[in-house]
Amino acid sequence: MDRLIIDGGRPLTGTIPISGAKNAALALLAGSLLASEPTVLRNVPRLVDIHVMTEVLASLGMKVDATVDGALRLDASSLTDFTTPYDLVTRMRASFFVLGPVLARLGQARIPLPGGCAIGSRPVDLHLKGLRSLGAKVTIEHGYVEASADQLVGAPVYLDYPSVGATETIMMAATLADGTTTIDNCAQEPEITDLAEFLIAMGARVEGAGTEQITIHGRPRLEGADFTCIPDRVEAGTFLIAGAITGGDLTLTGVRPEHLAALIGKLQEMGAILTAPDGDVLRIQAPERLKAADVRTMPFPGFPTDLQAQIMALLAVSEGTSVISETVFENRFLHVDELLRMGANIKTEGNVAVVQGVDRLSGAEVRATDLRAGAALVLSGLAARGHTIISGVHHIDRGYEDLERKLVAVGAAIGRTQVEGQASDPAAQVPGLTR
Ligand code: UD1
Repeated sequence: MDRLIIDGGRPLTGTIPISGAKNAALALLAGSLLASEPTVLRNVPRLVDIHVMTEVLASLGMKVDATVDGALRLDASSLTDFTTPYDLVTRMRASFFVLGPVLARLGQARIPLPGGCAIGSRPVDLHLKGLRSLGAKVTIEHGYVEASADQLVGAPVYLDYPSVGATETIMMAATLADGTTTIDNCAQEPEITDLAEFLIAMGARVEGAGTEQITIHGRPRLEGADFTCIPDRVEAGTFLIAGAITGGDLTLTGVRPEHLAALIGKLQEMGAILTAPDGDVLRIQAPERLKAADVRTMPFPGFPTDLQAQIMALLAVSEGTSVISETVFENRFLHVDELLRMGANIKTEGNVAVVQGVDRLSGAEVRATDLRAGAALVLSGLAARGHTIISGVHHIDRGYEDLERKLVAVGAAIGRTQVEGQASDPAAQVPGLTR
């Protein structure tokens, strides 16, 4: 039972290097199942979710090794199994991404339905509809999706919603199909473009990634590749907001500013100064207090749902009233109750939150209910008066590599304790925290 303890109210200044993108890496790892030769993936973050995905790959017969320089070497030349174990899919939904590649490689795949999670019911109907369009027989029996096709056949697919996961599933399956597949109304997220570039590096023929129509000309087999994962735009966005919420001056290195345009625009509208002194460097200089702004989450290039909780933490201490509309997931306001415990003034109705900025949050004991909700609590703790104690840290560990080390390096007072039951003074257990 880890807990994070933060002594808030310090402006963050300095430089933070950004890690590889979790969500891109998860799709690339699944995509590596398509290659009949070994592939090498670089800049993969060391995170719990990545570890679970490597366990999924190993369960299917892939050989996964870390190279001396920290890359992952993945050898799917001889896959031995087409069933993904239940306990791995329930530990991480993104395990479901292996469905398309395993079906395309082995002609059959069996994987548990992932079910819902804290932020929504999260169906997979669009993944399955896409695979059926490519000629697969797909049934759901005893909680498992069973898909089979002697040979997938390219076809037009229209997505009712530009789902990231469904676009990835169909793209991957279509690379080994016979003929041409078009995916209309597909997702345009940077993770989609990264996956397309990886597939192209393996010899696939993919056009249009990053637009609303992707075309894939199938090939009989894919080769190995050596590929570097894009930087994590959600991690970078979280740190930009950390700079903003503490009135700090932070420089992020190894970023792709074009992936963060919606957040950058919003932070500028709120009064922060953002500059890109170099192609892969972003700097934020923030005044003590920013101004309110309205936010509506949308598929890329709109404002990302994965930064909604974090910007809410910032709006909670900005001057004026903000309206946040969450349009991507139906239940993504679980952080609101925890922010209220810290003194925020937020009212929700359906998928809309009205945030009345307060002068200051005050540290409290709070609980992370999911990954990005947890990030919002860390940000609130960095800005709040006094100590914030966050439980449910395993959610945060799913998506932020070296979070405390990176924050401490720019002046935050944050530490971790392992507690059994209730500690009388958790802050006393963290060296360097002042009372
Ligand atoms: C991915 C990201 C997640 C991000 C989300 C939206 C990964 C591992 N996760 O999740 O961090 O928040 O994109 O940017 O990359 N939907 C359906 N039917 C489907 C599939 C999706 O109705 O078959 C709905 C979902 O319930 C949700 C919306 O579409 O309301 C968006 O989901 P989707 O884009 O698929 O998100 P994920 O790929 O699960």
